[in-house]
Amino acid sequence: MQKVIGIDAGGTLTKLAFINEQNELQYKVFPSNNFSLVKDWIESNPQIEEIGLTGGRTEQLLKVLKTMKSIEYIVEFEATIKGVKYLLEQEGHQLDKSIITNIGTGTSIHYMEGNFHTRVGGTGVGGGTLTGLSTIMTGVSNFTEIVERASLGSRENIDLFVKDIFQGMEAPIEGHLTASNFGNVSIMNNTKLEPNNLLATIQALVGEVITTLSIQFAEQKECEHIIYIGSTLMNNEYLKKVIGNYTILKKHKPIFLSNSGYAGALGALLNKSNQK
Ligand SMILES: Nc1ncnc2c1ncn2[C@@H]1O[C@H](COP(=O)(O)OP(=O)(O)OP(=O)(O)O)[C@@H](O)[C@H]1O
Ligand SMILES: [Mg+2]
Repeated sequence: MQKVIGIDAGGTLTKLAFINEQNELQYKVFPSNNFSLVKDWIESNPQIEEIGLTGGRTEQLLKVLKTMKSIEYIVEFEATIKGVKYLLEQEGHQLDKSIITNIGTGTSIHYMEGNFHTRVGGTGVGGGTLTGLSTIMTGVSNFTEIVERASLGSRENIDLFVKDIFQGMEAPIEGHLTASNFGNVSIMNNTKLEPNNLLATIQALVGEVITTLSIQFAEQKECEHIIYIGSTLMNNEYLKKVIGNYTILKKHKPIFLSNSGYAGALGALLNKSNQK
């Protein structure tokens, strides 16, 4: 392993990025509620000499690490954008401007144009909402299980679609759009709800709120592309489909980068590496 690593201590997950002996970029993830695991891992790799660090839990992690290693802090938004730019280049995208929506525990939305970038907004609806509501409503709290079971579920009897309201007449907007997330429950007196169906509906609620907001910023800033990143999207094809389809329907182009959950850790690594 090379002597520099990048760490993004996020609200839920702490992500690490580093380069191995074969000169390949590698990633690792730990839960942010157990920083001693991060400490143990760093101590088990004595070749690490320098750490690029970012994320809202930076101070909490530093308290546990108590390390003498050379640490370079970088503001989370700066690190994320650096990481995103690297991943965009790796995947062959060339954009002059775009909206970047980071779906972490909460969701943060940024505007990027050339070397300029700024945070334009966000919402508390994010990955924490997905896991939180899933736990409360179905008892399923494991992220991988939430994602797997949601893909087997159906929103049909829980969500209220435009076509359900405008029955027998022409709807003013597309019929398959959601008129009300969870809106069919009260109308149908539908209380016997299957966990998988609930999980699918929660994913759609989260995805649609985030997409609606992202599209508004894309229109305000006249951007064609919206780049969606964050660990909430990792191996989560269902959420990507909700977000991707809705973005396309609204005439914008969604971009999903692989390993996008590690953008902040990658940016912190690049920042520290470039200090030398
Ligand atoms: N192994 C996992 N354990 C828990 N949550 C996971 C896991 N993998 C993906 N997730 C999802 O990713 C979300 C966290 O995403 P991410 O790591 O981008 O956020 P964060 O950096 O911790 O938070 P923030 O940026 O808001 O401070 C979780 O809320 C959950 O929905
Ligand atoms: Mg984060």
